Amino acid sequence: MTPTQAVAAAFALSALASVALVVVYVIGGNAQIEGVLLALALGGIGAGIVVWAIRLLDVPIEAEEHESLASTPEQRSEAVSAAELETLSRRRFLVRLLLGAGAALTAALSIPALSLGPQPGRALFTTGWRPGSRVVDGDGQPIRPGDLGVGTVRTVFPEDAIGRADAATLLIRVRPADLRLEGDRAGWAPEGAIGYSKICTHAGCPVGLYRAEDNALLCPCHQSTFDVLRGAVPTFGPAARRLPQLPMGIDDDGYLVALDDFPEPVGPSFWNVTHEVES
Ligand code: FES
Repeated sequence: MTPTQAVAAAFALSALASVALVVVYVIGGNAQIEGVLLALALGGIGAGIVVWAIRLLDVPIEAEEHESLASTPEQRSEAVSAAELETLSRRRFLVRLLLGAGAALTAALSIPALSLGPQPGRALFTTGWRPGSRVVDGDGQPIRPGDLGVGTVRTVFPEDAIGRADAATLLIRVRPADLRLEGDRAGWAPEGAIGYSKICTHAGCPVGLYRAEDNALLCPCHQSTFDVLRGAVPTFGPAARRLPQLPMGIDDDGYLVALDDFPEPVGPSFWNVTHEVES
């Protein structure tokens, strides 16, 4: 195989591998096959460029002693033109192959962008809570503040979104006189029933432990601790933001209802990257 054929074969192999990579992705994908094809696509271009540089751009000149064979000026001119023509056409051919392989590889490399899926839109800013949603337990039972003893906790959901992870809320009953909530928050805890998002603002673990002695919520993942009486501000651990508080009131039948969705996004603190919020 001549060097030119070797370079052409490497570029062609790369282009075919890139096209095959796109096809495999479109028909469902297979990580192992895609990995092999990506290696062939990148390796083909690399090998072709290496052979081109070594064997075609740096051809050694070998001279052989022989008696003088004079050519006419016309013959010399024709020979030079033919050599230049061959070099030019070979270069053009290889450059076109290289561009084709590069274009195919670019198309294949767009696959990760296609895999990103649809944009989340407002999904990270809302949960299942709506104004008027009744607060229910995991069995769908609505709850009155008096159903909870002081110092107890229950996981609750909106009545039409039981089990929805982003709406999971810890409902705690404390003595109203002990609460030290600021601003509007003071009106969101009827009869000492107060609700906080169950999703830790550090890395999203469920905040599963309530310590009644000092009214603290604890996240078992990295020990972040939140003060229930002061709006769940973090008092220990890596969490930098309070647990969002659910605005709650009581409906005409005496059951707890949400006055609105959480006032800020629940879960890990991507929110803090672009917004200033009180911690
Ligand atoms: S996820 Fe809760 S402290 Fe890290």
